[in-house]
Amino acid sequence: MAKLEDIVSLCKRRGFIFQGSDVYGGMAGTWDFGPLGVALKRKIMQTWWKYWVEDREDMLGVDAAIIMNPKTWVASGHAATFADPLVECNECHGRFRADKLAKTAEGHDLSANITKDQLINAGIKCPTCGKINWGEVKQFNMMFETHVGAVSDETSVAYLRPETAQGIFTNYKNVVDNVYPDLPFGLAQQGKAFRNEISPRDFIFRCRELEQMEIEYFVHPNDWERIFTELLRDVHVFLEETMQLPANMIHEYEVPADDRAHYSKRTVDIEFDFPIGSEELMGIAYRTDFDLQNVARASGKNMEYRDKKTGESFVPHVIEPSFGVERLVMAVLSAAYHEDEVNGEKRTVLKLPEAFAPFRFCVSPLLKNKPELVEKARTVYQILRKKYGNVTWDDSGNIGKRYRKQDEIGTPKCVVIDFDTLEDDTVTIRDRDTLAQTRVKINEL
Ligand code: GAP
Repeated sequence: MAKLEDIVSLCKRRGFIFQGSDVYGGMAGTWDFGPLGVALKRKIMQTWWKYWVEDREDMLGVDAAIIMNPKTWVASGHAATFADPLVECNECHGRFRADKLAKTAEGHDLSANITKDQLINAGIKCPTCGKINWGEVKQFNMMFETHVGAVSDETSVAYLRPETAQGIFTNYKNVVDNVYPDLPFGLAQQGKAFRNEISPRDFIFRCRELEQMEIEYFVHPNDWERIFTELLRDVHVFLEETMQLPANMIHEYEVPADDRAHYSKRTVDIEFDFPIGSEELMGIAYRTDFDLQNVARASGKNMEYRDKKTGESFVPHVIEPSFGVERLVMAVLSAAYHEDEVNGEKRTVLKLPEAFAPFRFCVSPLLKNKPELVEKARTVYQILRKKYGNVTWDDSGNIGKRYRKQDEIGTPKCVVIDFDTLEDDTVTIRDRDTLAQTRVKINEL
């Protein structure tokens, strides 16, 4: 199993992911994607969109504003309940999430209602100073506040959305009134969400600025159990076949009632064997009609759907598969990261599926100082670029060093132009995973 610090180091060294605002000493809980990271992240997001939206007849996309009318968060319950239990150490004044401090032996968090006395009775020490002297546990709302317009007072307060889901619920009526899709149908959205996490941690696993990919799937209330099972199956197909994550690293966790979000009657978390342990990769929740009823109450608008065949009118119930982009990126990187030995030398290799590798091919001349090789290699490079787009050029160092670099960034195939190429128009293709080198005609590439 890869170590987290090795992945973090590779990500920085090769330009996948940097600490946010690195040049000013960083900004906790924020991360910036560099040239290779943005390529990987976009491919993952596009793959998700294709699987869940483009390839299905029952899904439509939306893209809602990040700053929403503050009534949204009162209606959704986030203003009152989107909080984590915060506890302060009276000795060193370190602040922590009380439920995370009190992780059980099975690795799942204790209830969010944990008290100071429970922490003390369980002998839980401050992770910073090692003392046991806790203050009262307080509920800390995680929404980021901002002000809209020129005047900053209580009337101009707004929030950065803590989940993309509400941008879907607030558009449900627009879609039903104007598009009137057959039920069941899903509305999908990808976009940024913001949470003032008490302790952002573990690289991109828990961030304060994150990206979500969510579906609100609207169903007849009688159908929720069947459709929950079907969507859960689709989640497995997506993760194991489309994303090509190893099935043995993926586990279902039936979240007990005490630990579920305020809106959920059933939640299954999909946990993944990250380098930090088995942790939540995504979740699928049965949100009942909680959200649409809240929107109906707060807006005074009718949220009913009229069945096209039976004429029955009802407020649909909702099943929500919710993915975090950063966690999917981290899962793909963790599964791909390998270390092995080639010719007695340690090699780091990202065995990324071809669909997610930032570059599909690397093209290089065997020798950089032979103009005839460079010229031929540039021609091959242009041919492949035209055909595939994501092709890179490398003429630095010697060929062995170039292979090491391309292995580290996950390029599946290196194409090398040598003197034989000038004679017979063939090139060497070297495979990242098998290390096999084969000779292929340029026009067959
Ligand atoms: N709309 C439901 C919802 O937001 P959630 O379990 O709070 O549910 C859904 O979040 C997913 O978003 C998680 O499974 C995870 O992948 C991702 N996520 C949540 N908080 C995150 C954070 N602080 N950093 C990175 N990803 C996060």
